[in-house]
Amino acid sequence: MNNLKTNFGKRKIKISEKTSLVQSLFTNVSKNYDLMNDLMSFGTHRIWKKTLLEIMNIRSNEKIIDVGSGTGDLIKLITKKNNNNEIYCVDLNANMLNECKNKFKNNKYNKIKFINANAENLPFQKNIFDKYIISFCLRNVTHIEKALSEAHRILKPGGSFYCLEFSTPNTTIINSLYNEYKKKIIPFLGDKIANNKDAYKYLDESISLFPNQESLLDMINDAGFTTSNFINIFDGIVSIHKGYKV
Ligand SMILES: C[S@@+](CC[C@H](N)C(=O)[O-])C[C@H]1O[C@@H](n2cnc3c(N)ncnc32)[C@H](O)[C@@H]1O
Repeated sequence: MNNLKTNFGKRKIKISEKTSLVQSLFTNVSKNYDLMNDLMSFGTHRIWKKTLLEIMNIRSNEKIIDVGSGTGDLIKLITKKNNNNEIYCVDLNANMLNECKNKFKNNKYNKIKFINANAENLPFQKNIFDKYIISFCLRNVTHIEKALSEAHRILKPGGSFYCLEFSTPNTTIINSLYNEYKKKIIPFLGDKIANNKDAYKYLDESISLFPNQESLLDMINDAGFTTSNFINIFDGIVSIHKGYKV
């Protein structure tokens, strides 16, 4: 079983090695993560995240979980607008989770909990969350179907699932320009700014190998979600998938 192979970027590795290799990359980039995010996306990741939150339309008292919360960008945006939500930031990487905690050190919002856990095995009872978010994390998870099944398990009936992730552009010209950008510019910036070319080479490769919009939608449906759909942003460079639990 442990000899089965998977992708780590374009390298074939043992499935059992993937989680720790991905995590060592995030440990190395945690300090520069926010800066690199802004530079590489020209700040557009903020627009993508705002779009996600508009679609989510969070209401007061809803219980929210952000899996792979990283440095807590989305939670910061949520707490600016809402002040009565119980929010769980979950990340497998202790360094990223610490960066997230630091962001909220002096914040009056006191209903945030920080949990170090794997998306594939969440330490929560079933049927307890109203909204589940996974943003730019699913690509890094070793067993995507396990993470989707965990999302379904912990959501309440009537709860909803949201995934913001890099995807496949619709237009050939945008796709080829974007591929060049990912292959050349992103690793260059990673090298010069974060001193970590490999992490940003992995970023390009993990985006290229991630299921396209339709395949991810099938996986979300297979996990038990209904009336699932997706919208494309920036021609499909990123997409937001949504699913309901009945
Ligand atoms: C690219 S960052 C995204 C952070 C944030 N959600 C955002 O949108 O900016 C991916 C995060 O997912 C976390 N991650 C990767 N695999 C994970 C897993 N299996 N379970 C939980 N978190 C994971 C990483 O540690 C990292 O903090």
